[in-house]
Amino acid sequence: MGTEMEMEKRVCVTGAGGFVASWIVKLLLSNGYIVHGTVRDPGGEKYAHLNKLERAAYNLKLFKADLLDYGSLVSAIAGCTGVIHVACPVPTSTISNPEARSAKNKWLCIPSFLIRTVEMLEPAVKGTLIVLRACSEAKVKRVVYISSAAAVVKNPKWPEDWVKHETCWSDKEYCRATENWYFLAKTEAESIAFEYGKQNGLDVVAVNPSFVFGPVMQPVLNFSTLLLLKFVKGVYIQIEPGDVDGVPNMLWGIVDVRDVADAVLLAYKKPESEGRYICVAYNITIKDLAEKLKSLYPDQTYLENFGEDDREYCVTSEKLQKLGWTYRQLEETLVDSIKSYKKAGLLD
Ligand SMILES: NC(=O)c1ccc[n+]([C@@H]2O[C@H](COP(=O)([O-])OP(=O)(O)OC[C@H]3O[C@@H](n4cnc5c(N)ncnc54)[C@H](OP(=O)(O)O)[C@@H]3O)[C@@H](O)[C@H]2O)c1
Repeated sequence: MGTEMEMEKRVCVTGAGGFVASWIVKLLLSNGYIVHGTVRDPGGEKYAHLNKLERAAYNLKLFKADLLDYGSLVSAIAGCTGVIHVACPVPTSTISNPEARSAKNKWLCIPSFLIRTVEMLEPAVKGTLIVLRACSEAKVKRVVYISSAAAVVKNPKWPEDWVKHETCWSDKEYCRATENWYFLAKTEAESIAFEYGKQNGLDVVAVNPSFVFGPVMQPVLNFSTLLLLKFVKGVYIQIEPGDVDGVPNMLWGIVDVRDVADAVLLAYKKPESEGRYICVAYNITIKDLAEKLKSLYPDQTYLENFGEDDREYCVTSEKLQKLGWTYRQLEETLVDSIKSYKKAGLLD
């Protein structure tokens, strides 16, 4: 670790074309790293933005790899000192048609209970193990696993308004019982990653972001972008299974995608980084978020008639800040997100 890692700057990023990974790739390239990016369909239009990044022409190489294909990952990781494991199925395509629940508030429901476990858990959990085995094979020095606040917050034993930190883990049985497959997948994958690291002498660090917003550069919209985009159109996306009455005034943890990339680079290169790092800049109720957006963009439609406060998702990034992480103002994140949606013609 340490100085050696500073010198050898060849890093593999899995799922390189996704929202979060694209910004990680951009940051690594601008810091002089050679990047091996894994994608499932190299040459596909959905990765064209990667090839346009500064220094991509000579420092970015895309590899065709699937999370369940060990051989493809071994080829992509060969020669790398580090791996940033980002790839994971995140449910977006299973969102059902809009359904009006009230005159004012439109509603989108993600039937995550309909996502078969094989679609979510296999690539997320087994895929992570396969990535780690390929890392051992290549004698990688450090793996940064992009986990999620979803692996931290979901536990019925904690008081709702309790601020969660790195020792908190979502309760897998509870996630299974409540059919929160994404929460289960991220919790299972992260815990398995640390277990594997311990048993096989592989240095594993996790970064656990909350909702990641910020400018999009990739053409295929990821879930959190869709969430904010719909939000500024006055549509609420229900993020958990089950029937909910009204729009719960949830506390959203928010972080800018560019600040997530900074956190990942810190976690990768700081010799002292260890364990997990919650990555959140702001905890804000969606009612207050709607107010803030309204003050910035009064012409958009906003949600109204919020229900009960729900503070389950309150998390803190004190540990990451001690590592030297800073984050930008929420207004900057929102303005830059909206600007990019407008530029892409998503918010006319
Ligand atoms: N966005 C957030 O708010 C947020 C918050 C917390 C944690 N995270 C985590 O951050 C990571 C990236 O999320 P994102 O928001 O950037 O989503 P995204 O844009 O949908 O990216 C997901 C990536 O995973 C890849 N992938 C999915 N299944 C795969 C498989 N079987 N084999 C290989 N690659 C596969 C996809 O590759 P293709 O390009 O080939 O389809 C895609 O690039 C995920 O691990 C997610 O859990 C995101």
